[in-house]
Amino acid sequence: MKYTIPTFFAFVCLALLATAKIDILYPSKDYWLVANSTATILWNSTDPSDPQRFSIFLINPNVPDLKQYALANNAITLNHNVSIAVPDLTKAGVQQGYSIIFTNIGNITDVYATSETFDVKASGSPPSTYAPPTPPSTSGGNSSSTGKPSGSEIVSARMYLSAFFAVAVVAAMMAI
Ligand SMILES: *[C@@H]1O[C@H](CO)[C@@H](O)[C@H](O)[C@H]1NC(C)=O
Ligand SMILES: *[C@@H]1O[C@H](CO)[C@@H](O)[C@H](O)[C@H]1NC(C)=O
Ligand SMILES: *[C@@H]1O[C@H](CO)[C@@H](O)[C@H](O)[C@H]1NC(C)=O
Ligand SMILES: *[C@@H]1O[C@H](CO)[C@@H](O)[C@H](O)[C@H]1NC(C)=O
Ligand SMILES: *[C@@H]1O[C@H](CO)[C@@H](O)[C@H](O)[C@H]1NC(C)=O
Repeated sequence: MKYTIPTFFAFVCLALLATAKIDILYPSKDYWLVANSTATILWNSTDPSDPQRFSIFLINPNVPDLKQYALANNAITLNHNVSIAVPDLTKAGVQQGYSIIFTNIGNITDVYATSETFDVKASGSPPSTYAPPTPPSTSGGNSSSTGKPSGSEIVSARMYLSAFFAVAVVAAMMAI
């Protein structure tokens, strides 16, 4: 089989699309914030090519006065968390439809990640507690005990894609 140069670039694009991303884990549709309190934003980053730092803003299209409310500047991607102060949103009178965005530190329109929409409950409400997904079993003895898809399947899909990508590179070089 002979790979053309366009095929080669298609694989490059596919490999990039498949990996670069930051996932916002907390808050989310399952995890609310509480107005006028501190909270710890959590995220996952699996690609070394993800941006190293970002800014965090709180937004809600139903609360125009909020605009993009700055929660953190210069959050460090590799830390996977940052503590923030949730504003007192009593005046907004809206508890639903909030989200946070991670942006380029110098350019707010360059958005790296957007959270699911979440609630900001009234000041004094109990906080939500993040429960990490159960890690895949490492023992190997009971690998079939859970039917749930796990992170390791995503990882192996990525490894497979990377291997495919490497083959495409070699094939493309041989074709030139
Ligand atoms: C916000 O928190 C501060 C300090 O804990 C408290 O004094 C204030 O009353 C709170 N505001 C509201 C609206 O709950
Ligand atoms: C937050 O990040 C710091 C620095 O990487 C780490 O020491 C700490 O354990 C993290 N906390 C949480 C709740 O993940
Ligand atoms: C900011 O980011 C947006 C979206 O990526 C881009 O279109 C725009 O050119 C950037 N502005 C500057 C000043 O870099
Ligand atoms: C596998 O799971 C069974 C039942 O949950 C348990 O009795 C057994 O000890 C487990 N084996 C290993 C290797 O973890
Ligand atoms: C982060 O992503 C990796 C790879 O997708 C996954 O294995 C891991 O469980 C994730 N961590 C959390 C806390 O979701």
